[in-house]
Formats: sequence, C-alpha cells, structure tokens
Amino acid sequence: MTKHEELLHMLMNANGRFVSGEEISRNLSISRTAVWKHVNKLRDLGYEFEAVSRKGYRLLTRPDSIDAAGLQLALQTSVFGRKALILDSTLSTQGDVQQMAEQGQAEGAVVLAEEQTGGRGRFGRKWFSPPGKGIWMSILLRPEQPLRNTPQLTLLTGVAVCRAVRAHTGADAGIKWPNDLLINGRKMCGILLESAVEDHELRYCIAGIGVDVNFELTDYPEDLTSIATSIKVETGQQVDRTKLTAAILNEMEHLYLLYQREGFGVIASLWEALSVSIHREVKVSNPQGDIEGTAIGLDPSGALIVEKSSGERITVVSGEISL
Ligand code: BTN
Repeated sequence: MTKHEELLHMLMNANGRFVSGEEISRNLSISRTAVWKHVNKLRDLGYEFEAVSRKGYRLLTRPDSIDAAGLQLALQTSVFGRKALILDSTLSTQGDVQQMAEQGQAEGAVVLAEEQTGGRGRFGRKWFSPPGKGIWMSILLRPEQPLRNTPQLTLLTGVAVCRAVRAHTGADAGIKWPNDLLINGRKMCGILLESAVEDHELRYCIAGIGVDVNFELTDYPEDLTSIATSIKVETGQQVDRTKLTAAILNEMEHLYLLYQREGFGVIASLWEALSVSIHREVKVSNPQGDIEGTAIGLDPSGALIVEKSSGERITVVSGEISL
C-alpha cells in the first residue's frame, strides 16, 4: 500500500471520527507536513475531509468516481485487480487489455473506464457506456486449458458478477443463458468473453463486463428503455461503484481458483442455481433457425440443453434465447 492508501485506510476505519495528525504521523512513520501532503493528494482524488486543529482529520465523503486507492482497499484478492488501470475515457477497455496482453502483462490485470466511446457488445453490437454511472471493465485471463473450454469462463464470469451484485446491493439478479444478468426481466449487465488463439491453442482471454449501476431510466436511449435497467432503478439505491467493482473481482478470483482446482461442475451448479432460464420455455435464435423448448440444464462444456415438445434434446452452443 502507498502512504496515501494507508492514510485512507486509517480514516475509513475511524468511521467518520477524527483521527489526530499525530496519530497518523506515528502510524505511517511520516512527518506532520507529509500527512498534510497526503491528505491533499486524497482531496485531489475526490475525497472530502474536515480538518480541525487539535482534533485532526475526519473523512466526510468518498469520490463518486471509481478510485484506485479505494479499489485496492476493498480488494481481497491476491492477483485479480491488483494491477488496475482506471481511465476517464477510452474506446473500449477490451482493446486496452488486448494491448496489455500482447505486451506480456500477467493474468488478473484490469482496465476500467468511466466512459467508453466505442463500447462493444456480443454479435458486433454497440454497448452503451456513458460516463460516471456504470462499471466498464475488462480482465485479462491466461488459463492453461483447451480452447473448447472457453465458454465455461463466460458462465463463470456471469456467476461471479451475479453473486457480487446480489451480495453487495441486495438486487434480485439472475442469469439468462449464456451470460446476461437480469433484474425483473430486464438486462442490467452484459459479458463479452474474447479469446486470442494461435494454432488452435488458447493464448489468453479477455473477460469484458458491463454493468449498468447508477443509471436513471431517463439516461437510456429510446431503443433500450424497454429492455435495459440499472441496479439503481431496480433497488432505488445509489451504489458505490468502487466497492461493487472490488466485490466482482473478489468473486472472480475466488471462482476462477475453484474452477482450476475442481473443474467446471461446481461452477455449473452455481450457474444453474442463479439462472432464470432453467426449467423455462425458451426460444433459441441461431443461424440454423429458431428452436423452441424447455431449457433443462447445462452439458459438461457449458452448452444449454433444450428439450423440444417431441422429447428431442438439442444442445445449444451459442446464440441468444428469449424467455
Ligand atoms: C453484451 O453484448 O451483452 C456484452 C456487453 C459487454 C460490455 C463490456 S463493457 C466493458 C468491456 N468493453 C467493451 O467494449 N465491452 C465490454
């Protein structure tokens, strides 16, 4: 931890009470002037303090932006998010992580942006990524596994985000196959898993996560109002994006390690428990035409098994379903 992160840690742990300059200077082994400098550094990052002579400093508010120091403090990971680049604006965090990956960056590195000007969704769609209200994040993964297992990582990412959203905000989020997160039937998160492949071998994956956190309904363009929603719209609560980002990365690392240790079975069970698609009538749209039936579960590769009214079972590897 840097000195200003340590200082923040102390002031956050004081839960709104004053901490004297002397105590800070002793705990951090820095001079009183240095304390003042670090307080000002945190002010530049958007933190607000009350400073009273003989009482010390008290944290009033944290920045509304996703902040690096707060993220590091809230992380419980050893690798995921420990290297995190937070940008004001970028074309797409997917491209930024791709560049890092090509330069040899290690697994778990993350790029976050307050805004994406060219956010990308599945099937070449655009992903609406306005500033200050969402989590637009890409994570570098370097799994040593056969290429055919990469769809499992898509499902794992969906489970991680869903668990983090439910635990952190209380929202009743569920997963629509393969990896859209819905609240009350509307989409509040999308996941885009992209893989770099050479000679049929997986080089690395980039897990792109887009969460509509603090949007108001009026923030959406007309074509999205009936299908999209945000955590704030559904819960009525403003969500701390830094803490939710950390919660997602904490879940991601935990599940990723579990997956590497025990395989996909345990992830599949978690996915099925959170799924809003299983045991439901679904319509699968894919290039071969539409299939209607009941979604009955996942096969060992992560594909969705759909049972038609004739009893015939179809395995759906990719595509989209409507409920
Ligand atoms: C979908 O179509 O549902 C997937 C949307 C994925 C959006 C995220 S936001 C962060 C990352 N950067 C992008 O350009 N896309 C992903």
